[in-house]
Amino acid sequence: MKITINGIVCDAKEGANVLQTARENGLYVPSLCYFPRTGTAGKCRACVAEVEGMRGLVTTCTTIVQEGMVVRTNSEKAIAAQKMVIDLQLSSGEHDCLSCQRNGDCELQTAAHFLGIKKPSYDVGERHCDLYDTSSESIIKDGTKCVKCNRCVDACNHVVMHEVLDMGERAHDMRVICDDDLPMGESSCVRCGECMQVCPTGALVSKAAEGKARSWELKKTRTICPYCGVGCNIDVVTKDGKILYGLGAEENWQELPNQGSLCVKGRFGLDYVNSPKRLTKPLVRKNGQLVETTWEEAMAAAAAGLKKVLDENGPRAIGCLSSAKTSNEDNYAMMRFSRGVLKTNNIDHCARL
Ligand code: SF4
Ligand code: SF4
Ligand code: SF4
Ligand code: FES
Repeated sequence: MKITINGIVCDAKEGANVLQTARENGLYVPSLCYFPRTGTAGKCRACVAEVEGMRGLVTTCTTIVQEGMVVRTNSEKAIAAQKMVIDLQLSSGEHDCLSCQRNGDCELQTAAHFLGIKKPSYDVGERHCDLYDTSSESIIKDGTKCVKCNRCVDACNHVVMHEVLDMGERAHDMRVICDDDLPMGESSCVRCGECMQVCPTGALVSKAAEGKARSWELKKTRTICPYCGVGCNIDVVTKDGKILYGLGAEENWQELPNQGSLCVKGRFGLDYVNSPKRLTKPLVRKNGQLVETTWEEAMAAAAAGLKKVLDENGPRAIGCLSSAKTSNEDNYAMMRFSRGVLKTNNIDHCARL
């Protein structure tokens, strides 16, 4: 179907909302609470527009397209309302962009820039939002940058189903809380990082990346999680070749096995790649000490050790543990080695880690 947005004829999918349609046609409309994977929220009112035949301003994220619809997101009235919403959000928080991890990759900053807002203009009085929570091992929760969009709450409760986050208090005092208002690190949070991924601002950011990089210095590389067999599609975020954290791939998320989400291992467990403790050379134990050696000597030592156990105690004395970090082919070879060569059925896999 066709609709017209700001005088431009746009292709629209049946059942899509106007905001989504604008985006798919390359048109920017300010928005804070709408996120495809958490669905329509209709909370922030940053995305308002005038629609012919409808009264007042409508939120484009909650308005479903109809054939021939005529929408104006850039009318004087719509822009004034969008400006007020974004300005109020900027005025209600502490948006010190220069030191914020999301500087250059922030939906509030983008909206303010688009609308030409140079600085916050409202005096909202005393702020009642919670401050800096660094109690989680992986996530920094900064209430002063929260725009109360609810995306994190929806993601935690309805996408990853961990039911940790909620909105606590009301009106001016409203803020995101963990469980019964516990610090994040003391709550039932499992550190999946889904809330961090969906947050539009710097209110939930990676602890590992704090102070290490600005958004334009980061590189995202699409790969498959090396842990379990689900095969989650990950954008690994690196700076200068060092892994900081993982993001679930958002592009075509409906078709991916992880549908945009990750667990704590894929999100925050990839830094082992850069660990100085990682083994990069084979080791053998000599006089009780592990020392570096050649592959030939290491293989010969392993073969001799296995043969000794087989000779003395039989195949049931040996167990093999394989790894999800290797390929299917490697795991198959390990199974054949275990059953066919060592003659033991004691073979398992680290997926239950
Ligand atoms: S959350 Fe966005 S607007 Fe606020 S300080 Fe960070 S970059 Fe700036
Ligand atoms: S990290 Fe996961 S479990 Fe913890 S609050 Fe965020 S979404 Fe919920
Ligand atoms: S923490 Fe982020 S996602 Fe959650 S309500 Fe605040 S701005 Fe939205
Ligand atoms: S993006 Fe439409 S109301 Fe928030």
